[in-house]
Amino acid sequence: MAKLSRTNNVSSLASPPRVAIAIMAAGKGTRLKSKHPKVLHEVGGKPILAHVIGTATKVVPARDVFVIIGHEADRVRHAVGETGVQFVLQTEQRGTGHALMVAREALAPYDQVIVLSGDAPLITGETIQNLSAFHAAQKATMTLLSAVLDNPYGYGRVIRKSPKGAHVRAIVEEKSANANQKKIREINSGFYVFSVAALYQHISELTTKNVHGEYYLTDMAEVFARARKRVLALRTLDPGEVLGTNTRAELVDLDAALRMAKCRQLMTEGVTIYYPQTCVIDSDVEIGADTVIEPFVQLLGKTRIGTDCRIRSYSVIKNTTIGDSVNVLPGCVMDDSRIANHAVVGPYSRLRPGSDVGEGAHVGNFVETKKTRLGKGSKANHLTYLGDSEIGEGVNVGAGTITCNYDGVHKYKTVIEDGVFVGSDSILVAPIKIGKDSYIAAASCITEDVPADSLALGRARQIVKEGWAKEKRESQKSEGKLHK
Ligand code: UD1
Ligand code: CA
Repeated sequence: MAKLSRTNNVSSLASPPRVAIAIMAAGKGTRLKSKHPKVLHEVGGKPILAHVIGTATKVVPARDVFVIIGHEADRVRHAVGETGVQFVLQTEQRGTGHALMVAREALAPYDQVIVLSGDAPLITGETIQNLSAFHAAQKATMTLLSAVLDNPYGYGRVIRKSPKGAHVRAIVEEKSANANQKKIREINSGFYVFSVAALYQHISELTTKNVHGEYYLTDMAEVFARARKRVLALRTLDPGEVLGTNTRAELVDLDAALRMAKCRQLMTEGVTIYYPQTCVIDSDVEIGADTVIEPFVQLLGKTRIGTDCRIRSYSVIKNTTIGDSVNVLPGCVMDDSRIANHAVVGPYSRLRPGSDVGEGAHVGNFVETKKTRLGKGSKANHLTYLGDSEIGEGVNVGAGTITCNYDGVHKYKTVIEDGVFVGSDSILVAPIKIGKDSYIAAASCITEDVPADSLALGRARQIVKEGWAKEKRESQKSEGKLHK
């Protein structure tokens, strides 16, 4: 096959172009006035750059995606490294044209490079694919995605050779545009496709003769037009896709847009979200049909919620897996936890990492759990701390129960077997094991293991001094000390 394509011209022409994606992400983001790199600011619950990489890897395999990094390169690499993309280091940020200059070696093996901006996260795989296919079909040298905006301020303007024609003569940056050019509402989105060979044949013709003293990638339009190469602009039908995040205001607008889009998508999948404007749902969250999300709920990270659940107001749920028909009452905070079908949690429960609430189990108000498994049908309904605990099925944990899991140095485990009844206000000093079907008397301090089927009392016997209060009153009266 390989031999055929080398010897047979027709088949090598017909073979699909080798396509790479370059993502420009080396800039500082001066306009955000931040000490953090721009592309690591979050929208929709994850770094802007992570959105762009997610979209890029829908179009080509991760090994063909080259992220150009520079400012705080190590932090950026660390934040998105697990995606499997490649990195190109632009040590000095001398402009978008320069970003592509340093990627020359990495991109040499490819026919076509799709260039994306690491600060514009709404672009879709479909639009990128259309742009790439249009470029190939038109045999263009450079194709840019343009958009017609009501307010084009700040963007590069597309100067076409003739108003109706597809050919582009130049892109003029806001700061270099004259009054007439500023009126042009067709802007350069910052997404391009280039033929790799032509790009690197001509890239050295870029200069830094502009307001910023930078190499502008946008100037390649003029360079190619001068060399009589085809430069085309494809207008996007959805101008919303090209929006960037140069300022904090743009950042939060974009975040709101992403979150509303996420809510709408979930609603089309059968989820009810009341007052979606008040809910914060991250991009990767999954929710089953007929689940109802009440106002002011945050669902973050990799949270997954099954069908027929109700998540009541003011809960913040992160990286948590919730089964079907679960009722989360108002005001719960959960991280890295699991809740099985038909469980009830809240109001005001705090599930810290490693909490595992079994089927039909109840975790009630002011109950905190950590690294704790609560078995099927077990209940801890009020004012309780359960840490490092293994709790079986059908256990009742009374109000005010505390597992003492920490001696200041080490953490220890509490094991409570099936069917145990722990009376209210009990203190279980770990390491400790309460055997199956045992009872712990209320207000006990339990320091030793309790065998199965037992009753354990760990408190001082009650003493009653009959008549004591009356005698006290009378003696005070005789000394004239009592006021009433
Ligand atoms: C750029 C375009 C402008 C377009 C706009 C769309 C240029 C000169 N202008 O302007 O025509 O309308 O995008 O959003 O390209 N970057 C690097 N290395 C650098 C400089 C920048 O990797 O040396 C990266 C940035 O991190 C950013 C992207 O390139 O992710 C775009 O740079 P930015 O400075 O935001 O360009 P704009 O001023 O928005
Ligand atoms: Ca930008």
